[in-house]
Amino acid sequence: MARFPRPAEGTWTEHYPELGTKPVSFHDSVSPEFYELEREAVFKRAWLNVGRVDQLPRGGSYFTKTLPGLRVSIIVTRDRAGEVRAFHNVCRHRGNRLLWEGTPNGESCGPARQLVCKYHGWRFGLDGACSYVHQEDEFFDLNKDELGLAPVHCDTFAGFIFVNLDREPRSSLREFLGPMVGALEGYPFDKMTERYSFRAENQSNWKVFSDAFQEYYHVPPLHTHQLGPTPEAQNPNYPFEGAHYQIDGPHRMVSTDGTYKHLWPKEHLYPSETLTRSGSTGPWEAPDVGETPGVNPSATPRWGIDNFQVFPNLEILIYERKWFITYRYWPTSHDTHVYEGDLHFVPANTPRERLAHEYAALTYKEYALQDCGTLDGTQMGLEQGAFDEYPLNDQEILVRHFHKTVGDWVDDYRRERGGS
Ligand code: FES
Ligand SMILES: [Fe+2]
Repeated sequence: MARFPRPAEGTWTEHYPELGTKPVSFHDSVSPEFYELEREAVFKRAWLNVGRVDQLPRGGSYFTKTLPGLRVSIIVTRDRAGEVRAFHNVCRHRGNRLLWEGTPNGESCGPARQLVCKYHGWRFGLDGACSYVHQEDEFFDLNKDELGLAPVHCDTFAGFIFVNLDREPRSSLREFLGPMVGALEGYPFDKMTERYSFRAENQSNWKVFSDAFQEYYHVPPLHTHQLGPTPEAQNPNYPFEGAHYQIDGPHRMVSTDGTYKHLWPKEHLYPSETLTRSGSTGPWEAPDVGETPGVNPSATPRWGIDNFQVFPNLEILIYERKWFITYRYWPTSHDTHVYEGDLHFVPANTPRERLAHEYAALTYKEYALQDCGTLDGTQMGLEQGAFDEYPLNDQEILVRHFHKTVGDWVDDYRRERGGS
């Protein structure tokens, strides 16, 4: 038996008639031309998450962030007044990449009184203003006040820092996020500052990997043991169902009961889980973080995980046990992308808590590898061009919505440019 019922009437997909139920083309995942369009139409127009405010602990903190595939590096600062700002990481003098460590591709972060160019020593404040020009009187009619860093539109939501590379963003960040994601405003993300970061360069289109996290239809065959040690759950034909699917504008979410938490503490898959009191859904003991608004929007009783997919390339997985993961996908060509995964916990107070966090991070890598393992194969298969369209079932509603949304943004861009 499936764990969760379908909606009382119809199917998840039919609740959103604009999606249709027809087979879907994945041409958008194999076409170099589409990739070029997508970069302009989606990534240079949407709000993009570049980090969290806890990476800027005080006035005078900064970090750099390269946006893979966009040929853009930005500096995110908290200025003396406490305001979070973003600038192109480019010196106003002769265009040198301003801040880097090791090599010009290396990220840099820390506290700083000034941002100093390594080339001729110009300096800039954390507010982007030019504060020092070496041998200033040798220049011609130079006005330092007009030579600040180039600002990038920047705003924060629930501690997530977003930038927008458009000259004039079409909407404010808050309008863009809409009510479903906006409901997470008061969630205590700010208490979860112990971070474990992972990065991988993958041989697939970014959407192919994102698709793998938008449905749980693949769980019984691919993550068989995630469902628990019972013979019933170990059957790869086990009919696993997500509990709730929701769409709001370009954004999506799915709730599930996660894993076999209803079985613990009686049965575990590995002895190490019992030893560390942790596993794929995180530490068994959840810290007290107070209210958690915005999660489990359908109030499903066996709730374990929400997966919010914030268009275009951010996913926020929020666990009932009071921790969260973010995924970000940065396309670098039509068939490659950079994947960033970050786990966030309430900082450990004891060695046992720390061990539980470390074990959850290890387990996460195992599941991510399982998901990664099919990526090249899917990309190769799609590129072979054997089929024009592919059938999607009701549990794959978010895959359907994702590709439709990217296509709609690209169509809008083409229309605005008068092309077909
Ligand atoms: S390029 Fe930065 S000071 Fe000259
Ligand atoms: Fe998976």
